[in-house]
Amino acid sequence: MEEKIYDVSPEWSRRAYLDDAGYKAKYEASVKDPERFWAEEAKRIHWFKQPTRIKNTNFGPENVAIRWFEDGTTNVAYNCIDRHLDTRGDQVAIIWEGDDPSESKKITYRELHDEVCRMANVMRNRGVAKGDRVTIYMPMIPEAAYAMLACARLGAIHSVVFGGFSPDSLAGRIEDAKTAFIVTADEGLRGGRKVPLKENVDAAIERVGPGIVDHVLVVRRTGAAVNMVPGRDVYYDEAAQMVSGECPVEEMNAEDPLFILYTSGSTGKPKGVLHTTGGYLVYTAMTHQYVFDYHDGDVYWCTADVGWVTGHSYILYGPLANGATTLMFEGVPTYPSISRFWDVIDKHNVNIFYTAPTAIRSLMQAGEDPVKKTSRKSLRLLGSVGEPINPEAWEWYHRVVGDGRCPIVDTWWQTETGGILITPLPGATKLKPGSATRPFFGVKPQVVDADGKVLEGQAEGNLVIADSWPGQMRTVYGDHERFVQTYFSTYPGKYFTGDGCRRDADGYYWITGRVDDVINVSGHRMGTAEVESALVAHPKVSEAAVVGYPHDIKGQGIYAYVTLMAGEQPTEELRKELVAWVRKEIGPIASPDLIQFAPGLPKTRSGKIMRRILRKIAEDEFGNLGDTSTLADPAVVNDLVENRQNKR
Ligand code: WT7
Repeated sequence: MEEKIYDVSPEWSRRAYLDDAGYKAKYEASVKDPERFWAEEAKRIHWFKQPTRIKNTNFGPENVAIRWFEDGTTNVAYNCIDRHLDTRGDQVAIIWEGDDPSESKKITYRELHDEVCRMANVMRNRGVAKGDRVTIYMPMIPEAAYAMLACARLGAIHSVVFGGFSPDSLAGRIEDAKTAFIVTADEGLRGGRKVPLKENVDAAIERVGPGIVDHVLVVRRTGAAVNMVPGRDVYYDEAAQMVSGECPVEEMNAEDPLFILYTSGSTGKPKGVLHTTGGYLVYTAMTHQYVFDYHDGDVYWCTADVGWVTGHSYILYGPLANGATTLMFEGVPTYPSISRFWDVIDKHNVNIFYTAPTAIRSLMQAGEDPVKKTSRKSLRLLGSVGEPINPEAWEWYHRVVGDGRCPIVDTWWQTETGGILITPLPGATKLKPGSATRPFFGVKPQVVDADGKVLEGQAEGNLVIADSWPGQMRTVYGDHERFVQTYFSTYPGKYFTGDGCRRDADGYYWITGRVDDVINVSGHRMGTAEVESALVAHPKVSEAAVVGYPHDIKGQGIYAYVTLMAGEQPTEELRKELVAWVRKEIGPIASPDLIQFAPGLPKTRSGKIMRRILRKIAEDEFGNLGDTSTLADPAVVNDLVENRQNKR
C-alpha cells in the first residue's frame, strides 16, 4: 500500500515556532548536550532558587534514580497562577463548559488565584501540609482544578482518582496513598446522568476502615442531599466563605513530589506513579508550547478528564504554566447531541483541539452531517492521544473535522512519561496517518529485539527510551523496587515502555500497541490481571483469564474466559451478572465486552495459563494457534474455538 504523506502547509511553516530545520537543529542540541539544553529550558519557569545541578539520572542496572534540577526550588501553583497576575490577570485561564450547554463560565487568572487560595486555606485549616497526600475524586468542574492547584500551593501531593472508578477502586487508592483528606462533590453530571460521588466516597471510607480519612470536603455540584458526617464532612462553599483569598506558596524542592496517579500494569494492583515538581513542569510547559504550537491568545481544548494524566499535563499544568486559555469540559461527546464537540468549538472559538481516537471512531459512525453543520473555522490544529489512531480515523479527523486544513499531532506518551515523547511538530513534521512520527527534544527512543539488541534503521521490535527526560516518573509510590522491576529490568539500563513499535525508512515511529498484559480500552489502560481478580472474587467463578481483542470503536475490547465452580450453570443471566459485578468492583471502564464460559483453560503441565492461545482465539485467528502440544489437555482448545463469542 502506498504511504500517504501530508506536507507542512506554507501557513504553518510561517506561523510555527519551528520548521523542519529548526526541529532537527534543536533535537541534535538536546541529545548532544542534555545538561546545557535543559539548563536553558529550565528558565521557562520561575525558580525561587535557580538550579545549578541539572541532570542526575541513572537507569541502572544498580541504583536506579532520576533527579532533575535537584538543587532548585520553585512552586507549581506559583508558576501556573501568581507569575501571570501582573501581565495577564484579566485574561481567561479556564473556560468551563458544563454538561448542559446552557451552563458555562470563564475564570480569569486573577479569579483562579482567589479560588485556589481559598481552597488551599480550607485545606490548611484542616491540617493539610507539605508532603501530605490528598485524594481528589471529582467531576470535571473548576473546583477539581482548584483542588489540584491548592495542593501544589501547599506542597501537598494530590492523588486524583477518576470519577468513574468504583468505591472499591477508590478505597484501594486511598489506602495505598494513606490520604487523610478527600475532596469530592455531592454528585457528578455526565450526559445528563448523575454520578453518586459522595456516596461512593462514603462507601470507600467504610471499606478503608477507621483512622485513615479525617476530612471530606464536598463541593456542591447538583445540590443533591447527601449524607454529611459531622466533624468529618464539610461543604466547600461554606468553608470557602470563612477564609481569605490570599495564601502563601510553599517553596518546594524541584524533586519534591507533585502528585501520585494510579495506573494499571501487567501484574498486581494499580501502581502509584509519582511525579515531582521542577522537571515535570518544565517538560509539560515545553511540550505544550511546541507540540500544540501554542501562542498567546489561542483557545486550547483537551477533552480528557483530570482523572487521567492527559488531564493533569495538558488540561492543567502545561497550559497554565504557559499562561494559556484552557477549556475544561464536564460532559460527553454525544450529549445533548452528537455534534456537541463541534458546537463547543464554535461556541468558544477553539483553535487547538486534542482528543482520543476512540472518540473520533465513535463520532465517525454518525457520518459527516453532524460535523459539517457546524463551522469549526476557528480550528487550526488537531491532536490525538491515548492509543494508536488507525489511518481511516486519522483521514476522517483530518478531512471532515479539520476540513483538510489542520495538521494532526498524534502524540505518543504514557502516565509514566509525564508528557509527550513522540510527536509531530505542526510546522516541522510531514505527517503520515497512523504514525506518531519523531521524538520530542531530549528523547532518545530505541527499537530493541526480544534479547535487548538495539536495532538500527528500519526495524520492528519493542520501544525503549535510552536516557531520561525531565518529565519522567521518579518512582512507584512506596515501592521503588517495583519501579525498578517494572521499567528497568527487562532491558537493563533502559526504560521499557511496554509498547511494540516499528521505525520506518524515514525514522518515523509507528506504535503497534502494548506487548504486555495491559489492554487499552478506549484509550484507558486496564490490567488484565485486575479484571481477572474481580471475576474470581465472584462466588460462582472458579477461574478467569482476560485478554484484549480488536474492537471497532474502543480499539481493544475486554474478552473474558470464565470457568465456573462445579455445579454452576452457564446462563445468559449469569453472564449479565458477571458484567455488572466487574463494573461494581472496578468501574464501568472495566466491563467485559465478551464473556465465554469455558469448561477448562489451556494450561501447561506446570499449570500456567497459555494466554497466547486465548489471545489468538479472541482475535479470531484460529488457524494460527501455534504449538499446542505442550498443553496439559490439548482438547480444551477445541471447545474454546467452538464456543468463541462473537463481537457485538
Ligand atoms: C499507553 C499509555 C498518554 C496519555 C494517555 C494514555 C498508548 C498513548 C498513543 C499514541 C499509540 C498510544 C500506548 C501507551 N498510547 N498514546 N499516540 N499512539 N499508542 O496514557 O493510560 O498511561 O497509556 O497508551 O500503548 O503505552 P496511559
